[in-house]
Amino acid sequence: MNTSIPSDLIDQIRAQSDIVEVIGEHGVHLKSAGKDFKGLCPFHDEKTPSFTASRGRQMFYCFGCQAGGNVISFVQRLEGKSFVETIEYLAERSGIALPTPDAKAHQAQQKRRKLQDLNQLAIDFFRQNLMTPGIGGRTLVYLKQRGISERTIEDFQLGFVPAGQRQLIQFAQKKGFSVQQLIDVGLAKEDRRGTTDRFRNRVIFPIFDERNRPVAFGGRGTTDDIRPKYLNSANTIIYDKSKTLYNLQNARKEIHQTGVAILVEGYFDAITLYQAGLHNVVASLGTAFSESHARLLNRFADQVIIIYDGDVAGLRAATRGLNTLVKVGLQVKVALLPEGDDPDEFVKTHGVKAFQSYLDKSLNLIEFQIQLAVEQGAIQRIDVKSKAVKEIAATLASLDSPVELNAYVNQVAGELDLDRAVVYQELVRLGVKPTVEEKSTSKRLAPVRHQVSARESIEWQLLESLILNPSLIPKAKDKFNIQDLHNKTYAKVGQLLYESEPVEIGELVNHCDESSKAIISQALMTDKVPPNLEARMMGCIKRLNQFLLLDFEKQMRSSALAEGKDNTATLVELVELSNRRRLVEKNVR
Ligand code: GTP
Ligand code: MN
Repeated sequence: MNTSIPSDLIDQIRAQSDIVEVIGEHGVHLKSAGKDFKGLCPFHDEKTPSFTASRGRQMFYCFGCQAGGNVISFVQRLEGKSFVETIEYLAERSGIALPTPDAKAHQAQQKRRKLQDLNQLAIDFFRQNLMTPGIGGRTLVYLKQRGISERTIEDFQLGFVPAGQRQLIQFAQKKGFSVQQLIDVGLAKEDRRGTTDRFRNRVIFPIFDERNRPVAFGGRGTTDDIRPKYLNSANTIIYDKSKTLYNLQNARKEIHQTGVAILVEGYFDAITLYQAGLHNVVASLGTAFSESHARLLNRFADQVIIIYDGDVAGLRAATRGLNTLVKVGLQVKVALLPEGDDPDEFVKTHGVKAFQSYLDKSLNLIEFQIQLAVEQGAIQRIDVKSKAVKEIAATLASLDSPVELNAYVNQVAGELDLDRAVVYQELVRLGVKPTVEEKSTSKRLAPVRHQVSARESIEWQLLESLILNPSLIPKAKDKFNIQDLHNKTYAKVGQLLYESEPVEIGELVNHCDESSKAIISQALMTDKVPPNLEARMMGCIKRLNQFLLLDFEKQMRSSALAEGKDNTATLVELVELSNRRRLVEKNVR
């Protein structure tokens, strides 16, 4: 790759790349408007043109979304290309040769090019086979049976290699390639029978890098007796598994435009989703998700939705690489399909709409980790809970935003039934400094009566609000069942308040038991009445209703665990419940 391109050459390339032409070539219809050109902005949705390009200044600017820059930034931004990629693209476009740093590097580059050419030749060979009825006929039927259209076969350049020993070798040799080159690129191997084709009797999936250069292959046996089911190229000088994502060359534009990447596991998953119109899909091909993968995706995406088959073993494997995604700054979501269904089968059986609804229901990474923990018994078992908190804290520690961090800490504490302080303790252990907000909160919470949980403290605030302003009681009655208070003493006092409404508090204290009396007077002794008691009360009710739904979720989880019920079905129900919890949040507001 060219890493040092002289700046005068960059200037020359820019001068040769007229911005109006380049923009036009990228699908923006520009109309002349005075000195400038106008069109619909490719960077945001609009109905009237506010995107402007100037030939004189060789600049573009959108009055709608404030995107702007020169021809290089336009291509970079639209295509999600790196600077060097953009320069190489523009240079090629205007027929300018880029220098290679030195003879050695030049040689290496030539060698890589040759291997890519060889791969392209192999692709053509495999495709020819697939399209020759006497050879690839049955495989073509197989692909059609799996719901793959001819158009998709073209888009993915799928092929077939028959069962011979040296079919490709002979073909490539005739075209001037050497056996050594075939070995170097991983298409041939040497064993006791001599040099033979690596891929035999398989459907072929060419693998391209993000710049659409053919770098490797995957092959699937067309019948189930062929082992292994999939055979993939090993790493070569042009292929690094940990830096390649299947279908990124097709998906990158859409990923870049929407900011969202869908990450699946298999070839067929990616192909089926792509065919169904979800163009922003890439596949990790069963390899562990690496930091290089994360950085690669981060060039195009803001958010990654991981969608794997809902079996827990698979999910655990899938989560291994997730912290790296968070570390590079990507937002991670996880969507769960019913157990045993992979995206390919799911879309074919239930349609893309149903699939989309699973995407919409995807959990954020913390929610997902909590679900996994809960499934493993974290609510009931202290050891599981403490292990889970450590794992979740590791994810939290890779977050940059203190606001996000705080929100997640609340969520973890709430759902795993822990004190925030415990979660923070883990984080401090991992070197995360408590945020300003957290410090002041702990100060505020420090002198609280006896040690109370977050939930109890909210229950207290609700009661306190009602005692300080009894005219709020009817409204509270309407929104909240007072028997749902966890603290039984609070529930008793609450009941008393609800029943004796309209209430004269001073009088109430005269005829209630000692513990209730203590609570009521404690509230009345408050030295400073909080402002806007009604808003405070409604806030408490909202949070308490969330807690109640959480209780319900937990109960469901435990009973599901006890019954050994299908985990995924439960997860789906749980997702539904958390959605309801969010709804409550909205409605009470
Ligand atoms: P189909 O059965 O054809 O639908 O494939 P699948 O993608 O559903 O298969 P699976 O979920 O078993 O595997 C997911 C991905 O892991 C595949 O697309 C391959 O990339 C990879 N994989 C699966 N089986 C093997 C194997 O035996 N060897 C290797 N190297 N990779 C495999
Ligand atoms: Mn499958």
